[in-house]
Amino acid sequence: MNSYFYSSVFRKTLATLSGFFLIVFLFGHLAGNLQLVLLSGDVAQKQFNEYALFMTSNPAVKILSYLTYASILLHAALTLFLAIQSKKARPIDYEVSAGSANSSWASRNMPMLGILVMLFILIHMKSFWYEMHFGTIGNDPWGHKDLYTMTVVAFQKWWYTAFYVISMVILGFHLRHGVESGFQTLGLKTRKYIGPIQTISQTIAILIPAAFAIIPIILHLQS
Ligand code: HEM
Repeated sequence: MNSYFYSSVFRKTLATLSGFFLIVFLFGHLAGNLQLVLLSGDVAQKQFNEYALFMTSNPAVKILSYLTYASILLHAALTLFLAIQSKKARPIDYEVSAGSANSSWASRNMPMLGILVMLFILIHMKSFWYEMHFGTIGNDPWGHKDLYTMTVVAFQKWWYTAFYVISMVILGFHLRHGVESGFQTLGLKTRKYIGPIQTISQTIAILIPAAFAIIPIILHLQS
């Protein structure tokens, strides 16, 4: 029993569960951010800033936020550890690398894709989360911290918008392999379910990044 907690099966299961939790977070985060483009003018500013206040002050949401931070750290630490371990177990690559014949490009580059997603999250949190919590951000006409204007102004810069779009493409590749391999870890990728699992993985990997990428593009075009 004790050795199970030190096994790579346990670590892989934890990496999968934290990854799946982060996907749930992404759906919620996306729904909140879509207010930036589905509403307009004063209504968007008032509603988005009230939403941001609720998200940073409601005790239940705060617990979910701490769970999100913990999941990001746990997921990154476990997956990097597992990648290093499997590299150590096979220090020399297969003599004949079949390349795309037996594995996808995303699956062969997961550590690099994961590091790039992590870099995006760090830069993103410095820009918005840090400023919202610890920065000197101005108030809107209703007396709330004006995260809306900060976000709209950020995406006036073409290169910042481009950085988000490129990061979302990277996130898409990371999700494409990550979700499918997560189902495999949980033992669900049996012959019977392989079709639906590939469809679900593909849909998530396209839908989430595309919907996130549309937000900075629209805000930039409106600026
Ligand atoms: C259009 C794209 C996005 C926009 C406009 C956006 C906007 C924001 C804003 C305004 C905040 C600060 C709100 C707060 O502190 O509660 C925030 C927090 C955050 N964002 Fe994003 N975001 C985007 C995409 C993403 C993506 C793709 C990820 C992850 C891969 C991500 C991860 C996070 C995390 C982890 C936080 C902190 C959440 C918390 O404190 O609970 N965001 N985002």
